[in-house]
Amino acid sequence: MFHIPPFPTSRPRRLRRDAFTRNLVREHHLRPSDLILPVFIHEDSTPHAIDSMPGVSRLPLDHLLRTAEEAVALGIPVLALFPAIDPKLKTVDGAEAFNPEGLIPRAVRALKARFPQLGVLTDVALDPYTSHGQDGLPDDTGYLLNDATVELLVRQALTQAEAGTDMVGPSDMMDGRIGAIRRALDSAGHIHTRIMAYSVKYASSFYGPFRDAVGSKGALGKADKNTYYVDPGNSDEALREVAQDLAEGADMVMVKPGMPYLDVVQRVKSQFHVPTFAYQVSGEYAMIQAAAAQGWLNRDAVMMESLLAFKRAGADGILSYFALDAARLLKQQS
Ligand code: PBG
Repeated sequence: MFHIPPFPTSRPRRLRRDAFTRNLVREHHLRPSDLILPVFIHEDSTPHAIDSMPGVSRLPLDHLLRTAEEAVALGIPVLALFPAIDPKLKTVDGAEAFNPEGLIPRAVRALKARFPQLGVLTDVALDPYTSHGQDGLPDDTGYLLNDATVELLVRQALTQAEAGTDMVGPSDMMDGRIGAIRRALDSAGHIHTRIMAYSVKYASSFYGPFRDAVGSKGALGKADKNTYYVDPGNSDEALREVAQDLAEGADMVMVKPGMPYLDVVQRVKSQFHVPTFAYQVSGEYAMIQAAAAQGWLNRDAVMMESLLAFKRAGADGILSYFALDAARLLKQQS
């Protein structure tokens, strides 16, 4: 009679049996240095809570400095700044975006003066500054003019670099903007200013709460950004966008949103082997916070699991509104 061994030949559960073994064989880790904290700022003297992003507020500049202090203490390497601009300053061409005395340049100068070791990432796109809420300059039909918009984006990036930003993050998806910005930065002597390209920004519905936060939702109305952001059905196109941005001089690339697009993060990382970032966007944050508020999810556990998943997919870092809370938890656990 043929003898069937009574035991499985392999027991993967051995490596899950106790915490020390699980820690020993864990393949991916989340560290505070993986996190970039997006922060909303405004001109008012008091913070303004954002209803659709519980726990996140638009901050005045003095509060921004306090947040920066906390980030530094927790080991978060970079803050990403987003402005809520006074509606009176919004125009069709978003010219406030390249006002050297505007909110972002002032915030950058204040941050770099106080915390020179903290990295600052500033967004290059016109939507917080335009009366129509689109990222660039529209023609008569509302279609964004590509090359005219790129000229404005170049002025915005230069203004931010003059103020001392460490990295610019073009988030507008116009064609050719990375090359144009790189050439302009270099000719102005800003050879060290890094470009983190939002190379693959999807035409996603997960940005809703962000548009509340920067106050562009009303202006945008029912319009969408489908003629310039990438269609959510595509991922070969994502690779072409990354290839193009790298050829034009991007130092780092980003995929956005995050969790619904982990496959894209993985394809980008495995194809290009360059610093690859993911943005866990406002809608992803809102979903987790809302479910946790109902008692349907364990917030801290889901927060940490969602962030670790980005690392597993191949991201080198994550922009997340959870950055401070996650870094605090990591500190407690260590
Ligand atoms: C601006 C910009 C957006 C986000 C970052 N930069 C929003 C948009 O495109 O409407 C979204 C971030 C988030 O949802 O958290 N171009």
